[in-house]
Amino acid sequence: MSEIAELKIGDKTYELPTEVGSEKELAINVGKLRAQSGAITIDPGFKNTGSTRSAITFLDGEQGILRHRGYSIEELAEKSSFLEVSYLLIFGELPTATQLEEFQSEIADHMLVHEDIKKILDGFPASAHPMGVLSSLVTSQTAFYPESLDPNRSSKEVMLSIIRIIAKMPTFAAWAYKNEIGQPVIYPDSNLDYCSNFLKMMFARPGMNYEVDPVVAKALDTLLILHADHEQNCSTSTVRIVGSSQASLYASLSAGINALWGPLHGGANQAVIEMLEAIKEDGGDTDKYLAKAKDKNDPFRLMGFGHRVYKNFDPRARIIKKAADEVLEKLGVNDPVLEIAKGLEEKALNDEYFVQRSLYPNVDFYSGIIYRALGIPTEMFTVMFALGRLPGWIAQWKEMRENGEPIGRPRQVYTGATSRSYVDISGR
Ligand code: CMC
Repeated sequence: MSEIAELKIGDKTYELPTEVGSEKELAINVGKLRAQSGAITIDPGFKNTGSTRSAITFLDGEQGILRHRGYSIEELAEKSSFLEVSYLLIFGELPTATQLEEFQSEIADHMLVHEDIKKILDGFPASAHPMGVLSSLVTSQTAFYPESLDPNRSSKEVMLSIIRIIAKMPTFAAWAYKNEIGQPVIYPDSNLDYCSNFLKMMFARPGMNYEVDPVVAKALDTLLILHADHEQNCSTSTVRIVGSSQASLYASLSAGINALWGPLHGGANQAVIEMLEAIKEDGGDTDKYLAKAKDKNDPFRLMGFGHRVYKNFDPRARIIKKAADEVLEKLGVNDPVLEIAKGLEEKALNDEYFVQRSLYPNVDFYSGIIYRALGIPTEMFTVMFALGRLPGWIAQWKEMRENGEPIGRPRQVYTGATSRSYVDISGR
């Protein structure tokens, strides 16, 4: 039996049901509060508000735990592959060997994109940020596959939309980059694995022999796993809320890409490298930048530090830091910003300001250093995050649809002018 919470407003007491999740998290259900009392709850940034019940990802920010469908991120990163984790997120169980093979081969079948995508690409100036191009190309799929506009079609048809976007996303991402650097696009190679195919489309040039380095492909695969889902974050909530209006999968995903773009969310990986570069250019004085981050009159923040949910450590950051060391060593890369990052981390972790506020390095603090070592240019970092987060967004969208969730429509506390009469312009 779940407990009853009591809420007292003035001299009236209201009883609110509670519910407990499978990991014993307690929630007070305020779904009927307004009907009972006329009051609403207010929680800017949704810091205490659960927007849904979800069986995909469990995260305990105090203990630094992240699990997908019950499997720890540490185990998945070590033993699994990105497409296997994608399957797990979307279907709820790890695939059998046959299921994985079928999933991979369906994806391989749909990697090619419509030739007219090149015309859309041509319309973008080289200065276009690849995240903007990516979100546009994802929305453009509604035009090439108009049947995808209706999310209420059969599950087989919805599955086809899902397979298509997983298959085509690396092509869109790599082509956005080719557009930026003014090189002809490279067509997908369905004989290669997911990450090798992406790397070839990014770095091969017509008339050039390009061999994908397996160390690079493996490192990228691990990075994608680490980004695959993170429960109700800003972009995922966006995907769910857009999808709740019964907008199409592609429209919902495109909205998620735009939400991810901001520097407080996925855009942080680009911002971290730019920050580390700026510190290096400025003589490597990490104390100066720590002081700036602590100064409330200075808008500067230590990018890659802090997290809404993790208040002890970000388990993804631990895995990435170790991977950064390994990848740099294997590739023989000596990146001076790695030393700056390590120095900055050490100082921040021993600084009262950061300790008091439980600010730790997050997933984005070291990911940029690996991306750089893999040859990925800075403005593509957030695109890499989007590529990784895609299965999570899809799984969350699918779950929201299958749960028959109502349209997302928060309330507000109005603080504007009260009713007044219109004054003609001559009298103002
Ligand atoms: N540098 C300096 N101070 C910070 C930082 C930071 N990176 N992050 C938080 N603070 C301070 C903040 O000023 C506030 O101080 P006070 O209590 O004195 O006002 C306190 O810590 C709490 O911060 P908040 O902004 O209220 O916390 P939040 O949960 O709203 O924001 C965050 C979380 C991730 C947006 C924030 O920590 C931040 O801006 N970090 C830098 C950007 C970043 O790395 N984002 C990537 C997040 S991980 C990838 C992803 O999943 O999106």
